Amino acid sequence: MTDLHQRLEDLRDRGLYRRLRIVSGPQGPRIVLDGRPVLLLCSNNYLGLADHPRVREAAADAAMRWGAGAGASRLVSGTMRIHRALEKRLAEFKHADAALLFGSGYLANMGVIGALSGAGQVVFSDELNHASIIDGCRLSRADTFVYRHHDLEHLAWGLEQAGRRAALIVTDSVFSMDGDVAPLVDLVGLARRHDVRLVVDEAHGVGCMGPGGRGAVHAAGLEREVDVVIGTLGKALGSYGAYAACDDDTARWLVNSARSLIFSTAPPPPSVAAALAALELLIEDDHLVERLGGNARVMREALAAEGFDVRGPDTHIIPLIVGDAETTMDLCEMALEDGVFAQGIRPPTVTPGTSRLRLTVMATHTAQELRGAARVLGRAARDAGLTATAQAPHEDHGQPAAA
Ligand SMILES: Cc1ncc(COP(=O)(O)O)c(C=O)c1O
Repeated sequence: MTDLHQRLEDLRDRGLYRRLRIVSGPQGPRIVLDGRPVLLLCSNNYLGLADHPRVREAAADAAMRWGAGAGASRLVSGTMRIHRALEKRLAEFKHADAALLFGSGYLANMGVIGALSGAGQVVFSDELNHASIIDGCRLSRADTFVYRHHDLEHLAWGLEQAGRRAALIVTDSVFSMDGDVAPLVDLVGLARRHDVRLVVDEAHGVGCMGPGGRGAVHAAGLEREVDVVIGTLGKALGSYGAYAACDDDTARWLVNSARSLIFSTAPPPPSVAAALAALELLIEDDHLVERLGGNARVMREALAAEGFDVRGPDTHIIPLIVGDAETTMDLCEMALEDGVFAQGIRPPTVTPGTSRLRLTVMATHTAQELRGAARVLGRAARDAGLTATAQAPHEDHGQPAAA
């Protein structure tokens, strides 16, 4: 039998041990973490909708009307009206024929990739895609061609090699740990040229960019060009769950073949109603999306003033790449001591040598809070013996940025 205790100690020795921290109260811009008040700089509750009064009320009301749980897979005990209502609204919002709910973004990637590819085929996946895409590729039993990050020549070469076996290109839109945006126009071009489908995961795009917060695909003017757009409800939309927006045939195919939809209980009515309320708020008024963009700029400027190198994309996800895992976690703890929670991200979430603090701003942060946090991070970096530098993503990916 494997000695789990020993393996845990080994993780600790390598600076890779993870533990759960306890949050009291809602996921607002300020939280109480392990009993201590801190500024939250690493939540995906980008618009602050998880604790918006209308979203909370919708969840509470749904719990009273339809219960706490959906009871079974929708193919077994039926689709509740609230699920259908959210799908209809999401399809309108995304300008798609259909939207199909999944239990989570993880499950959506597993289900969609598996349904659109299989043994004997090839899936093309950006090397920095999210773990749920990686796992979806594995579960599909297709061969996976992992192309170098943003490297269209590498991808084109792979597509040529695969010929008729090529099934699918899949990519994050906004990369979750780096905040950069996939070259979507070129990916659409390659997908068309090679007659393969394109699946784009907008987990960090929807609610955060594009007209009305519709995401990076819309920002690039590609709304009818991408075969399946996956989005999550647990990030900017403040709830839990996910959807695939696509044409009618694809939606019906997913109902018939996406295993994570068929063999898993439907999302709970309170989560669905909360996501619907959040979506309505976004449709009524997208000022929170603008605030998020503004806050991202404030944070980048404040970090630059502290000596961090935050050139690169202008999104709400800002990586401060440190290098080794232990130093990263030291930095995280030092910032925490000063009341700023910016989680350290280590392998296997990111490649070895690129451990980082992954900062995410929220629309509900004040500029003053963000500037104060940048000062805390600058001080912590200097105290940790690092010159306060962080790296623009991928300019020198394998190297520690901090001297
Ligand atoms: C790009 C991407 N896709 C999918 C997911 C998974 O979504 P969920 O948390 O809803 O399972 C995440 C989660 O962080 C993500 O970053």
